[in-house]
Amino acid sequence: MYPETIRYNPPFATEDSMTGTTETDLRAALESFVEPLSGVSLGASGAVGAVSVAGGTLSVEVTLGFPVRGYEPEFESALREHLARHGFDGPLAVRLGARIPAFVGNRGAQPLPGISNVIAVASGKGGVGKSTVAANFALALARQGARVGVLDADIYGPSQPRMMGLSGQRPTTRDGKSFEPLSNYGVKVMSIGFLIDDEQPMVWRGPMVTQALVQLLGETRWGELDYLVVDMPPGTGDIQLTLAQRVPLSGAVVVTTPQEIALLDARKGLMMFRKVEVPVLGIVENMSVHVCPACGHASHVFGAGGGRGMAERYGVPLLGELPLDLRIREQADAGSPTVVADPGSAAAQAYMSVARRAAAQLAAAAVRGAGTFPKISIEDNE
Ligand SMILES: Nc1ncnc2c1ncn2[C@@H]1O[C@H](COP(=O)(O)OP(=O)(O)OP(=O)(O)O)[C@@H](O)[C@H]1O
Ligand SMILES: [Mg+2]
Repeated sequence: MYPETIRYNPPFATEDSMTGTTETDLRAALESFVEPLSGVSLGASGAVGAVSVAGGTLSVEVTLGFPVRGYEPEFESALREHLARHGFDGPLAVRLGARIPAFVGNRGAQPLPGISNVIAVASGKGGVGKSTVAANFALALARQGARVGVLDADIYGPSQPRMMGLSGQRPTTRDGKSFEPLSNYGVKVMSIGFLIDDEQPMVWRGPMVTQALVQLLGETRWGELDYLVVDMPPGTGDIQLTLAQRVPLSGAVVVTTPQEIALLDARKGLMMFRKVEVPVLGIVENMSVHVCPACGHASHVFGAGGGRGMAERYGVPLLGELPLDLRIREQADAGSPTVVADPGSAAAQAYMSVARRAAAQLAAAAVRGAGTFPKISIEDNE
């Protein structure tokens, strides 16, 4: 005899019934799944589309707010585990798609027509690998299925023409008023480096620089972009602050190396974006570990764990730790960054994961709204 408390679940009304789980139950279970990269449940982001059960197989359409190409296996296995905890362990067929929402973080800045999101790649300190990250980051987003552009905002030391394999090229104009961006590897690129002579020193003062950049941004015919990646000039001075206020930024990625001095500067960068209410999507620790190509020995040239410590302290994600790898430099110098030069390499995979995580954080920001980012109050006096 069964004890009376056992509930009898009527079988699902198909021939291959599913142990009493109904479509409604399954939809609820799907909606309660917290997508691991964004930290947002599928219900909150409105990601669950059609749900059906046929022949015992659960088919579901999921639309995420960030590019998903290559993410399918990881997503599916996390979802499968979640569903198993909710009593469903039958076959699962997921149709994963992306719809990337538009989002502007800093209030007052006007969105750019056709551009859904602008992501600043910034650092406090120069030479930490910001431009290399920006180029690989943009290429990674494009490989994952997004429409991407890069604006090289480093007017004093533009690196994108070379890194993106476009040195010596000049943008054209169709109407005499706006530029057609250049393009390589499926990514559109604009840089002051296309318009000035390499040898010519830039002697502009700050206001002229910001003016020129805002113009370069607005007068380029980008077309429709999901993401415009801005390679910011190093530092946290007037130019950077003005850009952070005037450019409609969706989020910022802060690049640092693990040593103390770079971390202190990166912290200033982080504070600057928070001041103008641009969500910091996370921290990238570059040149984390050097693996000797001869003996395989891993050494922490610039110290260990600094990026992680900083991320924890300020409550932002650590988007990734990138190795110090000679090939990263050689490939960027040769105009074919690692993500396109050697997509199967561990370094390229690390960039892909950084880009995916940042895009997922941005999607989360778009769901939550700008004002709800954790606030911190720390005196900026170091
Ligand atoms: N992970 C890495 N491993 C090896 N070399 C790297 C790595 N990241 C960047 N580099 C190299 O370090 C140098 C500085 O990088 P990059 O130009 O990207 O830095 P940056 O922060 O943009 O510098 P700047 O402040 O001058 O704009 C470049 O020669 C680049 O190829
Ligand atoms: Mg640079």
